Formats: sequence, C-alpha cells, structure tokens
Amino acid sequence: MLLEVKKINTFYDLSHILFNVSLEIDKGETVCLLGRNGVGKTTIFRSIMGLTPPRSGSIRLYGDEIKGKKPYEIARLGVGLVPEDREIFPDLTVRENLEIAGKKGRKEKQTEDWTIEKVHRLFPILRDRNNQWGGTLSGGEQQMLTIARTLMGNPTLLLLDEPSEGLAPMITKTIEEQILLLKKEGLTILLSEQNSSFALRVSDRAYILEKGHILWQGKTSELREKPEIMMTYLGV
Ligand SMILES: Nc1ncnc2c1ncn2[C@@H]1O[C@H](COP(=O)(O)OP(=O)(O)O)[C@@H](O)[C@H]1O
Ligand SMILES: [Mg+2]
Repeated sequence: MLLEVKKINTFYDLSHILFNVSLEIDKGETVCLLGRNGVGKTTIFRSIMGLTPPRSGSIRLYGDEIKGKKPYEIARLGVGLVPEDREIFPDLTVRENLEIAGKKGRKEKQTEDWTIEKVHRLFPILRDRNNQWGGTLSGGEQQMLTIARTLMGNPTLLLLDEPSEGLAPMITKTIEEQILLLKKEGLTILLSEQNSSFALRVSDRAYILEKGHILWQGKTSELREKPEIMMTYLGV
C-alpha cells in the first residue's frame, strides 16, 4: 500500500472536522474524494501533508508513519500537494515558477525526473507562456502551472485539491486529459472534487464524504452504474 490513512481525527482548535477517516491508495491508483463544500476534503489533504496534523490515528506512506512529520519532510518523501487556491508566484515568470520548484528525485521513484522540457510536453501552453508573469495567466493556465510546479518536485503521490474548481468545461476537459497522461506515467493520484462527473472519469475508486465522515467507498465503475448511490449521498 502506498498510502494508508487509518482512523484519523483532525481538528481546527476546538472544531472536530475529520472523524475516524480511513483510506488507502495502492501504487498507480487514481482515487477521488467526493463531497460538497465544507465536508473536509481539504482537511484530509492538510492532514496527509502535515499542515494540520491529526490528533489521533495514523498515516503511513510505504508502511512508514508520517503523522507528526513536518510538511517539508513529507514533501521530501514524495508527496506533492496542488492546493485548492493555486499558489503560484504572480511576480515570477512561468519559467521561474517552475525553476524554483525543481529538485532532485528520490531513490524510490520509478519514473524519470521531471524537467522543464518534460513539463512542456504535458502542458504545451506553459511553453507558450514561458516568459509571461505568473499573475497574467488565466485560471486554467494557473491551475496547469500549479500542477506543473508540484511535478517539478518529482512526487510519487500527487494530491490534487479540486483541480477543476472554477474552470470552464473546455479547460476541465484539458486537465482531465493531462491527469490521464500522468496516470499512464504511473503516478499515484488522490484528488478531490465536487464536480463528480469529471472525478468519476479519471478515478479508479472513490470515497464519498459527508461532515467529516466517510459514508461510502468503492469503485467508480459502481458509481457510474448505480446513480442512486450518488443521489443518496451527494444529491446529484
Ligand atoms: N482554518 C480553519 N479553522 C476552522 N475551521 C475551518 C478551517 N478551515 C476549514 N474549516 C472548517 O472545516 C470544515 C471542512 O473544511 P474543508 O476541509 O475546507 O472542506 P472542503 O475542502 O470539503 O470544502 C468546514 O466546516 C470548514 O468551515
Ligand atoms: Mg476544499
């Protein structure tokens, strides 16, 4: 198992947000967290990344406990987070945004290191925008730059927090194709979405969340075949 989250409970001060959340991701899988706004999707990513460490439970990466480690240590172990709010540097060029994120790969990785050239093959638009300030990019381009920048850190587990949020359907389609290419490369991906049709197309398995609890888990093929599950838990 690449990632094993077991019964985590996460709080913001006195607010109890995640209740005994457990999830597993095998190497090479694409898994999605589905749920409406405020159910705890971002908090799961923050818990895994060590930004808001859970108060109880365990998080194992390749069998080793990472709960209690600092975010930069967790990043160094191969976890790359693409945050919901797309934190690119507006006053750096697209290329500079990518260059500052580059680092040497780790020993356990199976794929070749990400380079700017490899990033350009996946996101040709970033080559076209090479010398433009980050702040001048459209929402979709900023999302691609955020993903690209995280890839430059050579993650083995990519965490994508609502990648399609606020994007036009055509841009979402492009990002969908890019995620499928990353999947083909062997990257393990955990993503969150409210836009469930997009998530169902790219993911192998799903977890449905409500108020910090996991209500349903299973294969996305099952969700596609039985729309009543989506109706019951997500109201769509
Ligand atoms: N920094 C914070 N302090 C207190 N409560 C927070 C904080 N961030 C999020 N929350 C609350 O935690 C719950 C889960 O939020 P979040 O994980 O962002 O949900 P999602 O990503 O599914 O929209 C929400 O009720 C939200 O209001
Ligand atoms: Mg969120």
